Amino acid sequence: MVSGPSEPPRNKVTMVGVGQVGMACAVSILLRELVDELALVDVMEDKLKGEMLDLQHGSLFFKTPKIVSGKDYSVTTNSRIVIVTAVDVLTYVTWKLSGLPKHRVIGSGTNLDSARFRYLMSQRLGVHPSSLNGWILGEHGDSSVPVWSGVNVAGVNLQKLNPEIGKDGDRENWKSTHKKVVDSAYEVIKLKGYTNWAIGLSVADLTESIIKNLHRVHPVSTMIKGMYGISDQVYLSLPCVLNRKGVSSVVNMSLTQDEVCQLKKSADTLWSIQKDLRNL
Ligand SMILES: NC(=O)c1ccc[n+]([C@@H]2O[C@H](COP(=O)([O-])OP(=O)(O)OC[C@H]3O[C@@H](n4cnc5c(N)ncnc54)[C@H](O)[C@@H]3O)[C@@H](O)[C@H]2O)c1
Repeated sequence: MVSGPSEPPRNKVTMVGVGQVGMACAVSILLRELVDELALVDVMEDKLKGEMLDLQHGSLFFKTPKIVSGKDYSVTTNSRIVIVTAVDVLTYVTWKLSGLPKHRVIGSGTNLDSARFRYLMSQRLGVHPSSLNGWILGEHGDSSVPVWSGVNVAGVNLQKLNPEIGKDGDRENWKSTHKKVVDSAYEVIKLKGYTNWAIGLSVADLTESIIKNLHRVHPVSTMIKGMYGISDQVYLSLPCVLNRKGVSSVVNMSLTQDEVCQLKKSADTLWSIQKDLRNL
């Protein structure tokens, strides 16, 4: 067989960082058949080559014909999405340094927190997590904001059934569910040393919305200046419509005064750190 000139990939994704998180993202993306080329980048050359070879040896079982790797960023050419799992940098810093428009720089934000929230709530209610709508917004982790006013199953608003939901005096103690979400990462890290599968699956889900231009709504971190009275350039998670261009719009969710206050508090905390960052 004679092969013709090679065409550029249509759906190439680059993974920067092939640690626990990067490889869980890579495998989740490969198994969901989202890409025709996967590029891996890391500073640890032996590990990088080892991970690339290990994945390539599984090629018979994937629908991704090309898996490449390199320390040099030339391997990332023609990528539609670059997923950075190497260093805990602020999405804001990435946005500033990259010079890309804000809709193309997205932090995974509270996407995983919300998935954990929906899983834990679904266990109490006896339904599948996809049948329950629940959003955690704001900052990933300890200061995240559970939007109790929006939790519903098939449009039945839980706050209407239990006006105290999520508050201190709630006899059903739903607040403990949010606490469990916050504690989740610490618990898994204590038990196995790191978290990777759930973050990998959740990042693959975001990748699918972008690659397939799905216009699905996800709680991801975006530059929210101008929303809810926030006047600084900070990245926080709000429900965002994701399509092939990135964040196509942000859903202006009805929040209670208390929820808006919590978002503003996070925005102030982030800005107090960011405003002193020089040369951005
Ligand atoms: N958002 C979330 O929910 C979530 C969940 C888990 C982990 N994390 C974060 O994800 C990051 C990765 O976690 P991990 O467990 O995979 O860590 P890890 O140490 O296993 O892997 C990090 C990898 O990045 C590589 N790396 C470091 N600096 C690099 C650079 N400048 N260029 C290219 N590669 C570089 C390292 O060599 C390593 O292979 C951590 O910052 C962690 O805090 C976030």
